[in-house]
Amino acid sequence: MKKVYIKTFGCQMNMYDSARMGDALGVLGYVKTEVPAEADILLLNTCHIREKASEKLFSEVGRMNEVKQARRAQGLDTLLIVAGCVVQAGGEELLRRAHAVDIAVGPQNYHRLPELVTQFNRKKGRVVVADFPAESKFDFLPETRARGASCFLAVQEGCDHFCSYCVVPYTRGCEYSRPADEILAEARQLVATGAKEIMLLGQNVNGWHGEGARDLGDIIRMMAEIDGLERIRYTTSYPSEMTDNIITAHRDVPQLMPYIHLPIQSGSDTVLKAMNRQYTADQYCEIVDRFRAVRPDIAISSDFIVGFPGETESDFEQTMALVQRVGYASSFSFKFSARPGTPASLMKHQVAEAVKTERLMRLQELLLAQQKAFNLGTIGKTLDVLMVERGKEKGQISGYTPYLQNTHVVADKALLGQIVRVNITGATATSLTGRIVD
Ligand code: 5AD
Ligand code: SF4
Repeated sequence: MKKVYIKTFGCQMNMYDSARMGDALGVLGYVKTEVPAEADILLLNTCHIREKASEKLFSEVGRMNEVKQARRAQGLDTLLIVAGCVVQAGGEELLRRAHAVDIAVGPQNYHRLPELVTQFNRKKGRVVVADFPAESKFDFLPETRARGASCFLAVQEGCDHFCSYCVVPYTRGCEYSRPADEILAEARQLVATGAKEIMLLGQNVNGWHGEGARDLGDIIRMMAEIDGLERIRYTTSYPSEMTDNIITAHRDVPQLMPYIHLPIQSGSDTVLKAMNRQYTADQYCEIVDRFRAVRPDIAISSDFIVGFPGETESDFEQTMALVQRVGYASSFSFKFSARPGTPASLMKHQVAEAVKTERLMRLQELLLAQQKAFNLGTIGKTLDVLMVERGKEKGQISGYTPYLQNTHVVADKALLGQIVRVNITGATATSLTGRIVD
């Protein structure tokens, strides 16, 4: 039996893509393995968003090359494939730096994997495919079955916002929205094969503007009609593209979970402008207020970048004040990373590394305190938890509350895939514990 080992870096879109690449190779008879040494294909799905993420790839290629060489000593051939955003950003350079790589394939070309693998010929040499083809990869790789009770469904890909720090518009290309009927067909298929929760994915998911619906709010409302679909989520949203129809869906659609990831990036209008974000801190807060007006218990999360070029101490203080003003349930925060080809990488007044580190620590301390307070606030409540994983400790399973809090209970693993009522008895900054209520 031929085997493929897949390692995924980066965002949920990459996790989704890795699953489809696994399926595409499955058509050729490859089955998945968790053990690199037994794999005929080693596939790394890469992330380019920050320098750290990109550099991880090169150390991983080194490790994979050792596996490849060890297999060769046993007379076994191994294909090392690198996929994802690093390839789109510079496939040729990647092949130059990483000699062990045989095939490099960008995010818009995954449907061509079977053909690339079958036609690969060591004598002809290594291959890079990183164009933006006219056909949609979604037409070739529809999701056909649920991979668990909670599934991803890509509804939109690419980004037209061109934030001055971000590589996504270059690696994922311009915005493409899948037609509504395609999304609904895939959602039905996922539910028919066991999905209870669907997370709609898009780099700019609330900017969806495809055929067959007005906006993402309509898509959510149509999905709510699917029998057996108990939870709907979506990520990632761009603040100023939020529509009333999406916001009010949080009031009208019980299946739509009370959680919104709404990255602000900075609390300073000067920095937001330099970032080319199309809103002010006040406008962002107004959007948050509109969500809270229709769904007072909604949990809000965000991404933050500290140390953007030109960010002063007073700009940073405004980010801290914004965090106090909004009150986040959870967040991701990063030091600005100068990415090749982006306008921000060339801006004057780059912030010193030590200053970035110090600001990140202050921000994360505040965000963590808010996250802990949010979690502590659920103690004593009884919440629905969708059980998705076996716990590390024996007899434990874990899942997620409507507010996306990871929750551990002692329970039979037969409950995996089910939504159970859990009385929350304990909380830390990162997770909850509780008891199942009969
Ligand atoms: N430096 C630091 N963080 C970045 N992000 C995107 N590009 C950069 C960069 N160059 C962060 C943003 C975004 C998240 C996915 O990654 O906060 O929302
Ligand atoms: Fe990048 Fe900005 Fe697009 Fe988000 S909205 S993917 S940060 S360019």
